[in-house]
Amino acid sequence: MSAHGTPIPMTAERSGPLKGQAHVPGDKSISHRSLILGAMAVGETRVSGLLEGQDVLDTATAMRAFGAEVTDHGAGVWTVNGVGVGGFSEPGNVIDCGNSGTGVRLLMGAMATSPIVATFTGDTSLNKRPMARVTDPLALFGTQAFGRSGGRLPMTILGATDPVPVRYTVPVPSAQVKSAVLLAGLNAPGETVVIEREATRDHSERMLAGFGAEISTEVTDEGRVITLKGRPELKPQTIVVPRDPSSAAFPVCAALIVEGSDVLVPNIGLNPTRAGLFTTLQEMGADLVFENLREEGGEPVADLRARFSPDLKGIEVPPDRAASMIDEYPVLSVVAANAQGRTVMRGVKELRVKESDRIDAMASGLRLNGVTVEDGPDWWIVEGRGQGEVPGGAQVQSHLDHRIAMSFLILGMASKRPVSVDDGSPIATSFPIFEPLMEALGAHIKRDEA
Ligand code: S3P
Repeated sequence: MSAHGTPIPMTAERSGPLKGQAHVPGDKSISHRSLILGAMAVGETRVSGLLEGQDVLDTATAMRAFGAEVTDHGAGVWTVNGVGVGGFSEPGNVIDCGNSGTGVRLLMGAMATSPIVATFTGDTSLNKRPMARVTDPLALFGTQAFGRSGGRLPMTILGATDPVPVRYTVPVPSAQVKSAVLLAGLNAPGETVVIEREATRDHSERMLAGFGAEISTEVTDEGRVITLKGRPELKPQTIVVPRDPSSAAFPVCAALIVEGSDVLVPNIGLNPTRAGLFTTLQEMGADLVFENLREEGGEPVADLRARFSPDLKGIEVPPDRAASMIDEYPVLSVVAANAQGRTVMRGVKELRVKESDRIDAMASGLRLNGVTVEDGPDWWIVEGRGQGEVPGGAQVQSHLDHRIAMSFLILGMASKRPVSVDDGSPIATSFPIFEPLMEALGAHIKRDEA
């Protein structure tokens, strides 16, 4: 990762056609949760298809520091020998979560109700991100947090010695915050209740139920009311991680905008709380079909087939769909730049506090490459130039953000002139095989001299 290493400048140029199968890695959200819940169960959890990106590897290292035995058996198969709810030991050193907001926020929740102290840090991107959204609700359990001004990392968490259960309404649509409170609730007596007004990804709820916790979700006028009974004995599981829809988004979107393409992306998790991008693309006129729809390990799964779609139209993306495609707006804006007409994206304030300010990062890079973008605090509008009509020709900054780097490389594959990113190294956090996978489909990407 570039916070610890050398930047990797990269360039993509007009490519095509993209053809073949794209086997993308395991789901990042489910991979983090498999390791953390495995560490909180008693006995051996077996995980196959784990994403071996840097974000998840950092969570594996953290779980070892909290006392779990985490073993890599090769080929994506890992085992976790858990210490049970309330069984974490105190880490002997600072926990470095690298680039991962999900990693640090879930870990803070998981240790918050154990009588131990842990200090968390991350890379330059993570250390700028807001943590009060997690430490505020954790304080209700009796947890104390001491961080830098503005609630930033590095931060020391003093777990509650005598935790009380909590009822908390999540003020922002965030699965990380919801999950941190649920994980903290595991080691509090009684019932912890989390209420979310907008549905966010529900992997934590599904997996907690799978591990044997008593958890229920009721849809009420207040929103989704999730009730968890504290102090369960979690039972180890065998988990097959579905492939990540957020990674699938890159070869899918590339196929739609690169002339002559026909790409199959097999075994993609299509949990409705994650699949908003694919609905949006279909509304824009994408030739995108779900083949072989089935259920695996409690999650809907399908093979995605994406073909070149020369007549894409800009649309207004419904704001109530934002949570189900929050990580996909950067690459959607690249498709929007290749569509006819404007694509309007509203209700997306959360994009400003991701690995980078994603509205700002995409808007500035698209402008440099000849695309008109307007933006405000929680909205942005991309003026489509039509298929293959983006001028390109500029170098953009990835701001230590994997999804910004990959989105601009996809842009370059369909633009008139090449598009470069100053640093592609963050791609390794979530999609370490991005370059060989895209090259095998026929993409022209190269590493430049640093
Ligand atoms: C994630 C939740 C989302 C998402 C992130 C993964 C998770 O973040 O952007 O990539 O696994 O819970 P927020 O909770 O900040 O919306």
